[in-house]
Amino acid sequence: MKILIVGGGGREHALAWRLKQSTRVTDIVVAPGNPGIAAVARCENIAADNIDGLVAFARLERPHLVIVGPEVPLVMGLADKLRAIDIPVFGPSARAAMLEGSKGFSKDFMARYNIPTARYRRFTAEQAAEAKAYLDTFDGPPYVLKADGLAAGKGVVIPETKAEAEAEIDAMLGGRFGTASASLVIEEFMHGEEASFFALCDGETAVPLAGAQDHKRVGDGDTGPNTGGMGAYSPAAILDAAMQQRVMDEIVTPTIVGMKKDGRPYRGVLFVGLMIDKGIPRVVEYNCRFGDPECQVIMARLKDDPLPQLLACATGGLGDCARLERFSDPAVSVVMAGAGYPGEPKKGGVIGGLDEAGQVPGVTIFHAGTAKKGDDIIANGGRVLNVTATAPTLKEAVARAYEAIDKIDWPDGFCRRDIAWRALERG
Ligand code: AMP
Ligand code: GLY
Repeated sequence: MKILIVGGGGREHALAWRLKQSTRVTDIVVAPGNPGIAAVARCENIAADNIDGLVAFARLERPHLVIVGPEVPLVMGLADKLRAIDIPVFGPSARAAMLEGSKGFSKDFMARYNIPTARYRRFTAEQAAEAKAYLDTFDGPPYVLKADGLAAGKGVVIPETKAEAEAEIDAMLGGRFGTASASLVIEEFMHGEEASFFALCDGETAVPLAGAQDHKRVGDGDTGPNTGGMGAYSPAAILDAAMQQRVMDEIVTPTIVGMKKDGRPYRGVLFVGLMIDKGIPRVVEYNCRFGDPECQVIMARLKDDPLPQLLACATGGLGDCARLERFSDPAVSVVMAGAGYPGEPKKGGVIGGLDEAGQVPGVTIFHAGTAKKGDDIIANGGRVLNVTATAPTLKEAVARAYEAIDKIDWPDGFCRRDIAWRALERG
């Protein structure tokens, strides 16, 4: 079977790496891929947001399945265009991807189907005064302001004072994130512990895949600015079997049923960002794709071949598939980023020691933002490497990941040294 994976980061590297182990997969092409991915798959230099280029390529290659990694091509309608030429796609249509593509849409959807989430209201550019008045309906700061559209992970702002919140309302509605913030959502600040839950969906049915936790802040101790994620681990203790069942019953299944009812059947992976407080899960946000770096730890843990499920998400019949029950040891992934990230990262530095680091038992290094220069691997992004490790215990997995990191010679790189602290503290 031939698989086309769209994307070029650590998430797509992990997907290609795991599918390469499937006995049913004969050929994997990744567009655009990266130098790490090139070790396990063919790479085709087409950008993930070049919809026409990807469709033309798929028309020639006729893959049996396309797996779309990032949200942008999904929101732009890549899955629709591929389905229109009879190519099965793991990933939602543009209308279903609006669960991630528009915060306002997703909040209205949750309200309509009684899916637990923070209290909210939507505001357009003409409603700045009403938006400011709405701040007074909360107990006080922090306030949560969200640009409606996709803003490369930067569209959520959590001001600590009312004055800051008011200034932010003006900035956002004034175009700080372009059309993405032409309207915004203001919502209640939720306390609790965050977790990521992933379910597979074929438009009719949803089955749980796994839970994970990531670290969004750039600095040790969960300090500093938000990032795309500095590290992740799975499983997450807070998402035990009972909590997973509750999330399926109260959130995932009503979402799949509601989306079908609304004529927006949801196919692919539904990533629910949760806030869990006193045993009660509520939705922080939906994403229409795998988390990055959560995907890396989930793929590292999977013993069963995920291909039958991924294919069933695209073509139907997920309810009849055997569930992916077999997970191995816990996994952790530590992100190495270029100095300056999440601001302007330092690029171009040569990264050495990767082979030696990759030989630490249980360690796999996924490339997130690398490029090749001659024979060298160089840094070419914000998040550059995902040093991923499994072991019989999470503590050993963490030790293995940092042992590997210490073998990597990249002076411009940095990482958090406390990934999985919450789980390790729990013991
Ligand atoms: P999002 O892009 O929606 O995932 O938001 C980014 C981060 O902002 C989340 O991971 C949370 O840490 C935080 N956040 C978003 N919404 C809320 C909320 N209503 N209450 C508390 N924290 C939130
Ligand atoms: N790691 C969080 C995300 O992929 O959105």
